[in-house]
Amino acid sequence: MTFDIDHVLANISDQDKIALLSGIDFWHTHPIPEFNVPSVRVTDGPNGIRGTKFFAGIPAACLPCGTALGAIWDRDLLRRAGELIGDECIAKGAHCWLGPTVNMQRSPLGGRGFESFSEDPFLAGVAAASMIAGCESKGIISTIKHFVGNDQEHERRAVDVIVTPRAFREIYLRPFQIVARDTNPGALMTSYNKINGKHVVEDPKIYDMIRKEWEWDPLVMSDWYGTYTTIDSTNAGLDLEMPGVTRYRGKYIESAMQARLIKSSTLDARARKVLEFVQKASRTKVSEVEKGRDYPEDRALNRTLAANSVVLLKNEGSLLPLPKTAKKVALIGSHVKTPAISGGGSASLKPYYAVSLYDAVREALPEAELVYETGAYAHNMLPVVDRLLSNAVIHFYNEPMTNPDRKRLGTEPVPTTAFQFMDYKLAGLNRALFWATLIGDFTPDASGVWDFGLTVFGTANLYIDDELIIDNTTSQTKGTAFFGKGTVEEIGSKTLVSGQTYKIRIEFGSANTTTMKTTGMVNFGGGAANLGASLRMDSEEMINNAVKAAADADHVIICTGLNQDWESEGFDRPHMDLPGRIDEMISQVLGVAADKTVVVNQSGTPVTMPWANRAKSIVHAWYGGNETGHGIADVLFGDVNPSGKLSLSWPIDVKHNPAYLNYASVGGRVLYGEDIYVGYRFYEKTGREVLFPFGHGLSYTTFAVSPESSVSPDIFTPENPPTATVHVKNTGKAAGAQVLQLYVAAPNSPTARPQKELQGFEKVFLQPGEEKVVGIKLDKYATSFWDEIEEMWKSEAGAYEVLIGTSSEDIVARGRLKVDQTRYWRGL
Ligand code: BGC
Repeated sequence: MTFDIDHVLANISDQDKIALLSGIDFWHTHPIPEFNVPSVRVTDGPNGIRGTKFFAGIPAACLPCGTALGAIWDRDLLRRAGELIGDECIAKGAHCWLGPTVNMQRSPLGGRGFESFSEDPFLAGVAAASMIAGCESKGIISTIKHFVGNDQEHERRAVDVIVTPRAFREIYLRPFQIVARDTNPGALMTSYNKINGKHVVEDPKIYDMIRKEWEWDPLVMSDWYGTYTTIDSTNAGLDLEMPGVTRYRGKYIESAMQARLIKSSTLDARARKVLEFVQKASRTKVSEVEKGRDYPEDRALNRTLAANSVVLLKNEGSLLPLPKTAKKVALIGSHVKTPAISGGGSASLKPYYAVSLYDAVREALPEAELVYETGAYAHNMLPVVDRLLSNAVIHFYNEPMTNPDRKRLGTEPVPTTAFQFMDYKLAGLNRALFWATLIGDFTPDASGVWDFGLTVFGTANLYIDDELIIDNTTSQTKGTAFFGKGTVEEIGSKTLVSGQTYKIRIEFGSANTTTMKTTGMVNFGGGAANLGASLRMDSEEMINNAVKAAADADHVIICTGLNQDWESEGFDRPHMDLPGRIDEMISQVLGVAADKTVVVNQSGTPVTMPWANRAKSIVHAWYGGNETGHGIADVLFGDVNPSGKLSLSWPIDVKHNPAYLNYASVGGRVLYGEDIYVGYRFYEKTGREVLFPFGHGLSYTTFAVSPESSVSPDIFTPENPPTATVHVKNTGKAAGAQVLQLYVAAPNSPTARPQKELQGFEKVFLQPGEEKVVGIKLDKYATSFWDEIEEMWKSEAGAYEVLIGTSSEDIVARGRLKVDQTRYWRGL
């Protein structure tokens, strides 16, 4: 299908033009079939392609989370990750990927910190550009998000981010700017928040910067329910309100035009942009039905991504890699059998499969004796029921269960007791108010007291064999689940017998039956519920069992961390600690088995590790996607030599982080008081020790880097930025990769500057004994900062140092650079 944009615009009605400016549902743009204008499908994003269904979704590839991908520092591999995203979009019938996310981890506590690549804007920009290039090479449009300043979840729609122009430019806008310059993606999603007093979505200055100053012209769509006005957002420059059906456009634009508050030319410009987007997007042939792919080569790539993102934080006495001849291995921890594959919220999806560490170790050591202990729970909400559930279905109705004559409108089989209906459609179902009943067989695998937990957006009751166990209808308490619209988890319990089958039934009322007022949070509609269950265990006994298993084993692997209960959309983490009694458990295991214990942590952002000094080997494994278990095991057993480098600084204590005093919204605003000193820029400037520095990551081999770096040309001009050259050799016995990180320092600058800033990097692969000369190219921003007086980038005359590190702390080579004349510029 093709169409001529000028022809369409000249011939369609104003009503049609207006209709183009909002989605028709959660995921589609408005079609005009008479003019061959198709409906284009957009889909989340960022680390996999969920398609059009939160409920009963089509399984998908789940890639490692953003911070994990940021830890890879490999442009080519990230490009291939982007290609996989593009292919997944095609399979899911989508023309547009709602990703990547490039917000900033000001604090380790950000609920969505895991989605973005890095605390460093250069690394974030390069990683995003690489993925976008891969995705768009498949003909799929990428929507970089959330522009800009959605760096916390607390009051994300209302919070006013108070930020200096300099920090705004150098830190928060920089990744977007790099992407605009290097890959020019076809779409952009605005953020929910305000910047310095005005919501981004309706701030004309922001649109001017993007379109005039940067000369970048993406389709601009709002975040979901992040359009707040008709006139201001349309006039400022917002092209597409998402999702549909419209709340601020349609007849309201018509009326604003009658009152001459929106001009025809503005309507034309916005409609033209949507048509350009639709035309470009629909050139790519995508699958007509939403389906999976899951090919061996995708699995292999995903495994490589997972393994390459793993960061070896500590390895005293070369405890790792573990021998494949290991006889008796204790596998301890909440994440051994339940891998954390992704953070929560719109990033989460139904994966094709998820490889657990337990299964991966079993594959690596087919003969070994594996002893498993949970040790300590990591969940906040009780784990969703899936394995112990059978014959489960959900029936849908337009009337409540109190109506004996209600008509069943449809039935869907379900594999778990968690469901979200925001984008669910069923013929005849009144999306504004409906009821559903989940019925299934629950067969516990242990006898004792079972705790059940029910969380809901809407209302819900749990019955077991027709006995009411949880009432989350009569009286509801606000919690953080479901983008902040859910209740707390209400708990009920029952003594059950192993192997016996019980009928569980959830009577659910949709979103609008809720009795809670949760103003300020995004209302996605539909409603959602989550039922978890767990055998009540004595936590002391769990720890004791873990200690005993560790003492008796030859090797001990602890794998634990955070999960979607802690890192998700709609809320931030309350603290930086591992949940429950995990720290105690790790300490006690180290007490008996420090010499043979490897601790693997899974989290998207840093956690406190009070036991770090006593652990010999610590591995950080993020959220690793489908291949989580393989990715970790490949590193643990040396099939992959670790080469990941931290994409974030790892503070010792949450109180040390730069945003500690200024994180949550207070009085409607959040002050970015640390200014440009985000992440390592702060820790270095204030001389504050971290547990592991930005850019840190060990290898099973050793590298020697020549101490001098020659920089050519040594006089810096923006037109011809130099290349720094270093010589690197693999001096160990294993093939491996080193990331050479180039930082620029301006020690004599009269302007306050960070100690140094990342301005380039190269990842080098070397066989044992192999050496290479590596060139790291700078760009024109390498010596510059944002001058608030001139409102321009400024490259200041003076002497600069070029520092090549294998982390931000471990500087291995140095060079010099001069700027002979101060220069200013605007634009990209
Ligand atoms: C998120 C976006 C996402 C959208 C659609 C919003 O809540 O902030 O990142 O793309 O929902 O799911």
